[in-house]
Amino acid sequence: MKSFKPLVPFLKRHLGSYVLGVLFLMLVDAIQLIPPHLLGKATDDLKNGLMTPKLLGLYAAAIIGLALAVACGRFLWRMNLIGASRKLEMDLRNHLFNKLLELSPGYYDNKEIPEIQDEDPIKINSLEGHITIKNLTFRYKKELKPVLSDINIDLKPGQTLGVTGRTGSGKTTLARLLLRQYPVPTNSIFFDGIGINDIPLKTLRENIGFVPQDSFLFSDTLSGNIGFAGNFPDEEIIKAAKLSAIDKEIRDFPKGYSTIVGERGVTLSGGQKQRISIARALIKNPRILILDDCLSAVDASTEEKILMNLKSYLSGRTSIIISHRISAIKDCDEIIVLEQGKIFERGNHEQLLEKGGIYAQMYRHQLLEENLLKEA
Ligand SMILES: Nc1ncnc2c1ncn2[C@@H]1O[C@H](COP(=O)(O)OP(=O)(O)O)[C@@H](O)[C@H]1O
Ligand SMILES: [Mg+2]
Repeated sequence: MKSFKPLVPFLKRHLGSYVLGVLFLMLVDAIQLIPPHLLGKATDDLKNGLMTPKLLGLYAAAIIGLALAVACGRFLWRMNLIGASRKLEMDLRNHLFNKLLELSPGYYDNKEIPEIQDEDPIKINSLEGHITIKNLTFRYKKELKPVLSDINIDLKPGQTLGVTGRTGSGKTTLARLLLRQYPVPTNSIFFDGIGINDIPLKTLRENIGFVPQDSFLFSDTLSGNIGFAGNFPDEEIIKAAKLSAIDKEIRDFPKGYSTIVGERGVTLSGGQKQRISIARALIKNPRILILDDCLSAVDASTEEKILMNLKSYLSGRTSIIISHRISAIKDCDEIIVLEQGKIFERGNHEQLLEKGGIYAQMYRHQLLEENLLKEA
């Protein structure tokens, strides 16, 4: 019966015409099952008075009954096949998505991607969102120098962490370690007090919504791109699109949410792709959200709108916002500035400004830039 589930939304949408069509097909099936010579013989017998109409009626009813039963069986079998193939398609998509998430950084840099697998995990399905990082030092290969050194963070459920720092300072690496896309040293990352290597990968990745730095879209409809990780109803797809401030632009396309993107369809701007990618993470309704510089290509006012929308969405969820722009992280409970893999400065926005270090300098620069843009 499980394989019928993916068909439910489709059936609901076209129920009337579907039932009519099925009945008609069954009737055709049934008629086809009556052997023609039998029909001929029955007509002859009837003409010669060998068969009474009543007997013929009974005879016909039996044949049609049998035919309908066969047709029903055949129909259910066919539906089962369609349902199973839909399910297979969805499983494959999810698998592909996870693979692509793992691939995207190394793929472009031509770097090796390790195969990470579960090893005797503890059976848990959900996470509360308490993230603890203890003395985390990480190198991509033994012979390379560490990309992250001595990182310590305690993020309580519902809190937000802002991460900033130059390109190459280790921000993306930190995010990818939280998703266990690379081998994580034992006793360095904990979720709800449980070592990350003891948590089933499936649980970990289902509970974390991750928006990667480089977003990618499938050659599919816009709604398919947002909701492809599951069978989401249209309302939820629209809700996620609104939160990501992309709903209006989607509706401006002649085919709206059914617009095909990619090779065979329309081309989206970098900022539009990023927002689709955000919507894709939000619709999962995860306990933990990690945004990896995913607002870099949207303009300042759209960024502000998305951040405003996210405020209520994020309440109660643990989130990590990685960004070059101070405007995206200034309201976080804690902010860290990474420099060559080390936490160089930490505190909240006010504390960091008071300190007058890199963060304060970045903030002044960005304010200046913004004002120049406004004047221009
Ligand atoms: N798969 C990899 N293998 C080896 N080195 C890598 C890999 N991915 C990133 N690095 C290196 O790790 C450092 C930190 O990169 P990254 O975490 O992407 O920084 P950021 O996101 O802050 O720009 C960089 O020097 C980068 O070249
Ligand atoms: Mg990065």
